[in-house]
Amino acid sequence: MKPAEQSAAARKICALAPIVPVIVVKDLAHAVPLAQALVKGGLPALEVTLRTPCALDAIRAMADVEGGVVGAGTLITPADVKAAKAAGAKFGVSPGATDTLVKACEDEGLPLLPGAVTASEVMALLEKGYDMLKFFPAATSGGAAAIKAIGGPLPQVTFCPTGGISLSNANDYLSLKNVACAGGSWVAPDQLVQAGDWVGIEALAREAAALPR
Ligand code: 3PG
Repeated sequence: MKPAEQSAAARKICALAPIVPVIVVKDLAHAVPLAQALVKGGLPALEVTLRTPCALDAIRAMADVEGGVVGAGTLITPADVKAAKAAGAKFGVSPGATDTLVKACEDEGLPLLPGAVTASEVMALLEKGYDMLKFFPAATSGGAAAIKAIGGPLPQVTFCPTGGISLSNANDYLSLKNVACAGGSWVAPDQLVQAGDWVGIEALAREAAALPR
């Protein structure tokens, strides 16, 4: 998969809803009902972080949830990419980008949302052909003001900011013309997941899905 195709695929995924839930699955039994609640609430694109022992099994289980588009987050190494693809991930997300990670995603045909926050990081990815990028950690990297400023000299790049975003500040990001969607864990909070409060999570998803952009 060529870089331009990778970014085109990532753009399509980012267009599905204003918010991509960032999910940490600690108990495999939670995977399917959690995905169902988020999709039912209007958030089809789901990022499952590879930070827990059952994350790959969770992706495998969630991949069959109707209407969902499940991706793998926290991709760091080529081995992560291979494992995510084998588990059925439809896209990958990384907090940053390295040559080996980017190449592994191209070789595996896994659309990648690579991370960048500085002009040089963005330019390095642009040079490779990537123009749909994650901006992480968003809040501590200058927030919406930084993304707006980067859009001055680099208007051809679109971002999905993640990190420190919630219902109350999402609009600061979503109202920017170089932001396609935002990522956040607030729609799948650990407390509600552990309690199995799928109705509560669906309500959070519905609120997030209604955010204007
Ligand atoms: C992450 O990778 O952990 C995401 O950026 C989620 O950040 P948040 O918990 O601040 O939404």
